[in-house]
Amino acid sequence: MTEPSAARAWAVIGLFERPEDLLRAAARLRGSPLGRVQAYTPYPVHHLDEALGLRRSPLGGMVFVMGVLGALTAFAFQYWMSAVDYPIVTGGKSPRSWQAFVPITFEVMVLFATLTAGLGMLFLLNRLPDIFHPMLASRAMEKITRDRFALALESSGGQGVDVDAAKKVILELGAQEVEVLPLPAPAPAAPLNFLLGLGGALVAACVLAGYSTYWVIKLYPELPPMSHMERQPRLNAQSPSGFFKDGRGMRPAPVGSVARGHRPYLIKTPEEAARLVNPLPRTTETMEKGRVLYAVYCRVCHGFLGDGRTTLTSAYGAKPADLRIKRLALAPDGTIYHAIMVGKNAMPSYAYELKEDERWAVIHYLRALQRAQDARESDIP
Ligand code: HEC
Repeated sequence: MTEPSAARAWAVIGLFERPEDLLRAAARLRGSPLGRVQAYTPYPVHHLDEALGLRRSPLGGMVFVMGVLGALTAFAFQYWMSAVDYPIVTGGKSPRSWQAFVPITFEVMVLFATLTAGLGMLFLLNRLPDIFHPMLASRAMEKITRDRFALALESSGGQGVDVDAAKKVILELGAQEVEVLPLPAPAPAAPLNFLLGLGGALVAACVLAGYSTYWVIKLYPELPPMSHMERQPRLNAQSPSGFFKDGRGMRPAPVGSVARGHRPYLIKTPEEAARLVNPLPRTTETMEKGRVLYAVYCRVCHGFLGDGRTTLTSAYGAKPADLRIKRLALAPDGTIYHAIMVGKNAMPSYAYELKEDERWAVIHYLRALQRAQDARESDIP
């Protein structure tokens, strides 16, 4: 116990020239009853935390937890957007395809982790910016920020440090200089003016930015934000272009190319086509599809009932076939498919208007029209 009459101070600071001296002194001073032992260095000194007996930093654990949280957040958010809220199939992949979420999941994990590491270290653990720290008022601080290493015995709980005892211990440890910070803890050179100035400047900048934006928008309401999107070079359909030798803007498909969903049709005769089998099952859905397509593509010529009573005037020279005649009713589906694919005399090909399954659906419907002419009681469901 020190005598109550002894001189007391907020801190007694010892300055060392080399980090090794500081480490040795810190290890010896650790747990001193005189006051709280603190070290101040111009750069991080390895093993100082061990020498001071500091507990392991919780920062690693915090970073891990926040990283996992970031990854989960990003993944869940993307999943919700892509698979739940607004599912869109892009490039033929399922909206639930998790592989697409990996890059952003990774990035948000890194973002959460680095922010936690940086901000957590500065604000949460180190409680920076500590601009009112009494040490900032010491002469020693100037030297510490250059090339000195300091060990301080600081008052804990406000009773102050016994100056004589602390000085003695610190000098014994090999300090070159000793400084005493008197009680009450001195306030450092007022940073208040600086803070007020900074705050004022920020407010002024915000007001200026707000007002200028307001006036620019008011004075130039039509200012196009991104004109390069409006005025970009482009090629209209059917218009010429000097880019290719033949001067055409639209390019014909390369010879032999096959469009998606269109198989090349190599059959030449109706006899050969007879072996084709209608791949569609005769369902209500198919029938309905066939009915609509027949009405769009065939009815003008072949009539509502397929009886060849055309709605065209006599200006159309040919006579469309009655599709209900026995020959066609008995003909295999493939024969009719062939008529749609290659046409017949005055009937043009409908290969490009109808897709493969649409042709077969029309044929199903056509069969119903034929059957309707010769219906039996058993046909009624
Ligand atoms: C522009 C009018 C027109 C349209 C539209 C039309 N056809 Fe024809 N179709 C004809 C004419 C004309 C014939 C008779 C050709 C001949 O025998 O000279 C015919 C004949 C046929 C034949 C009989 C072929 C044969 O082997 O005798 C079938 C089957 C046929 N059409 C089905 C269809 C289907 C299915 C559609 C709708 C996808 C359709 N047609 C659309 C004019 C048309």
